Amino acid sequence: MMRERCAPAARPTLPWALAVALLLALGPRGPAVRAHRVADPGFREGYFEQLLDHFNFERFGNKTFRQRFLVSEKFWKRDEGPIFFYTGNEGDVWSFANNSGFILELAAREAALVVFAEHRYYGKSLPFGAQSTQRGRTELLTVEQALADFAVLLQALRASFGAQDVPAIAFGGSYGGMLSAYMRMKYPHLVAGALAASAPIVAVAGLGDSYQFFRDVTADFEGQSPKCVQGVRDAFREIKDLFLQKAYDTVSQEFGTCQPLSGQDLTQLFAFARNAFTVLAMMDYPYPTDFLGPLPANPVKAGCDRLLTENQSIVGLRALVGLLYNASGTEPCYDIYQQYRSCADPTGCGSGTDSEAWDYQACTEINLTFASNNVTDMFPKLALTEELRQQYCLDTWGVWPRRDWLRTSFWGADLRAASNIIFSNGDLDPWAGGGIRSNLSASVIAVTIQGGAHHLDLRGSNPADPASVVEARKLEAALIHRWVKAARRPW
Ligand SMILES: *[C@@H]1O[C@H](CO)[C@@H](O)[C@H](O)[C@H]1NC(C)=O
Ligand SMILES: *[C@@H]1O[C@H](CO)[C@@H](O)[C@H](O)[C@H]1NC(C)=O
Ligand SMILES: *[C@@H]1O[C@H](CO)[C@@H](O)[C@H](O)[C@H]1NC(C)=O
Ligand SMILES: *[C@@H]1O[C@H](CO)[C@@H](O)[C@H](O)[C@H]1NC(C)=O
Ligand SMILES: *[C@@H]1O[C@H](CO)[C@@H](O)[C@H](O)[C@H]1NC(C)=O
Ligand SMILES: *[C@@H]1O[C@H](CO)[C@@H](O)[C@H](O)[C@H]1NC(C)=O
Ligand SMILES: *[C@@H]1O[C@H](CO)[C@@H](O)[C@H](O)[C@H]1NC(C)=O
Repeated sequence: MMRERCAPAARPTLPWALAVALLLALGPRGPAVRAHRVADPGFREGYFEQLLDHFNFERFGNKTFRQRFLVSEKFWKRDEGPIFFYTGNEGDVWSFANNSGFILELAAREAALVVFAEHRYYGKSLPFGAQSTQRGRTELLTVEQALADFAVLLQALRASFGAQDVPAIAFGGSYGGMLSAYMRMKYPHLVAGALAASAPIVAVAGLGDSYQFFRDVTADFEGQSPKCVQGVRDAFREIKDLFLQKAYDTVSQEFGTCQPLSGQDLTQLFAFARNAFTVLAMMDYPYPTDFLGPLPANPVKAGCDRLLTENQSIVGLRALVGLLYNASGTEPCYDIYQQYRSCADPTGCGSGTDSEAWDYQACTEINLTFASNNVTDMFPKLALTEELRQQYCLDTWGVWPRRDWLRTSFWGADLRAASNIIFSNGDLDPWAGGGIRSNLSASVIAVTIQGGAHHLDLRGSNPADPASVVEARKLEAALIHRWVKAARRPW
C-alpha cells in the first residue's frame, strides 16, 4: 500500500481512513498524564495500518501491522497550531507520554496537535504479534524502518486531521531523541525541526570512548560523596576477595541473593549491581519519579545515604542497589539472573519482549560496547569487546553487527549539513558524553543543563527544577517557536 504515501489528501485511502475510524471509534479518553500545571491532555489511543516493509516490494508485499499512536487535540487550534510529533523509543509509548510534560506545556502555548508514535516491535506495535521477538522474526526491526513508519504515519495523520500545511516538530528523548534528530535529517520536508534530548548519537555510531559511560556514572557518585565511591569500591573488592577464597555463602548471605552462589556467578553479580548505579545516575532527578520504576528524589544521594549508614560494605551495597531492585521493600532476596538480564547493552535492556527487541538493535545497528575497568570508574573490570559482542549476537540472534552502517546512514558526528536540531544534555547524565556537546552550526544547537539527569528538560515543570533546566526549556521554546513560524506556509 505504498501508493498511499502520495495519494491526494482530499480523499484518504484505506489505511488513512482506517486510522481516522479507529481514532474516532476506539479512542477512549486516555488516563491522566502526569504533567505539572497542564490540563489533562486526554490522549486517545489509535492504531494505524502500517506497511511491514518500507524497503522491499516483494517479500512482504502490501502486508501491514497495527502501529499504535496517541493523539491529543486538547491544545490544538485547527489551521493554526503545529504538530508536535514524539518519535517513540524502545518501550510502551505511554511511558514516554507520561514522562514528557514539557511537550504538553509547550503544546498549550503553541496550540499544537500532539502525537506520540510507538516504535515498531515495542509496546503493542508488534509486526508479528507475540512472536515478533523470536529469532527469525526480527528482520524488520531497524532504525530506518522505524523512521519510515513515523514519516508515513505523520502524513496519514496530517491528511486525516486536515493539517497538510501545518509545520511539524519532532521530539524525543534518549534513543527517541536520536530518532527525532534522524527524522529531521532524513525527512526535513516533513518536520521543521527536532528537539533531541539526551540523544547519544556519537557513542552509538561507535565514535565514543568505551570507558566514558561508567566513568561518568562514577563521577555522579563522586560528586555526591567521595566516601560513597570508596565504599562501593570496598564492597566490590570484598566480594571479589571472598570469591577468591571460595566463601560464596558469605557473599550470598551479606548481599542477599536468592540462590547460593558459585564461582561462575561473579560476572552476573557484578553486572547486576553495576546496573543499579546506571539507573540511579540516569534518573537522578530532584523529585520522586516513576519512569523505569519508582525512585525517590535525588536517588544518587539516597543510594549513598543507604550505603554509608551500613558498617559492612557488602551490606551497604545491598542496601544501595535495593533502591532499584527492592523499591517495594518486599523482596526477601535478589534473584540476580531474573532481575537483571545481561544483553548486548551493558547499560541494561530492561525486561519482557521490549528488552529482546532492544537487544537485537544493540546487536545490529546500535553500538553500545561500554565497559568498566576499575581504574577510571569504581566498578569491577567488566569487558565488552567487539569480539564478545559479535559472538553474543551470533549466538543469540544469528546476526553480525555492522561496524560502519549507522554512521554511514546517519552521518556519524558530522552534522554540520543538518539544520534546526537542538541537542540537549544534562551534565549528570552518563549518556551526555556520547552526544553532541557543542554548537555545530547556526541551527544545530547544543544545550547543556547543569544539574540535569537523563532528558530532564522533556519532563514537566517542577518546583524542584534547577534554574538551568528552566533556562534550557525557554531557549528550546523560543527556537521551536521560530522554526514553526518560518515553516508556516503562506496561505
Ligand atoms: C497491493 O495493494 C493494492 C492497493 O490496495 C492492490 O491493488 C494490489 O492488488 C495489492 N497487491 C498485492 C500483491 O496484494
Ligand atoms: C501512564 O499514566 C497513567 C496514569 O497516570 C497510568 O495509568 C499508566 O499506567 C501509565 N502508563 C505507563 C506505561 O507508564
Ligand atoms: C563500537 O564502538 C567502539 C567504541 O566505543 C569501537 O571500538 C568499536 O569498534 C565499535 N564497533 C563497531 C562494530 O562499530
Ligand atoms: C580494583 O582495583 C584495586 C586496585 O588495584 C584492587 O585492589 C581491587 O581488588 C580491584 N577491585 C576489583 C573488584 O577487582
Ligand atoms: C555500626 O558500628 C557501630 C560501632 O561499632 C555501632 O554502634 C552501630 O550500631 C553499627 N551500625 C549498624 C547499622 O550496624
Ligand atoms: C528489601 O527491603 C526490605 C524492607 O526494608 C528488607 O527487609 C529486605 O531485606 C530487602 N531485601 C533485600 C534483598 O535486601
Ligand atoms: C549554542 O548556542 C546557544 C544559542 O545560541 C547558546 O545558548 C548555547 O550556550 C550554545 N551552546 C554551547 C555548548 O556553546
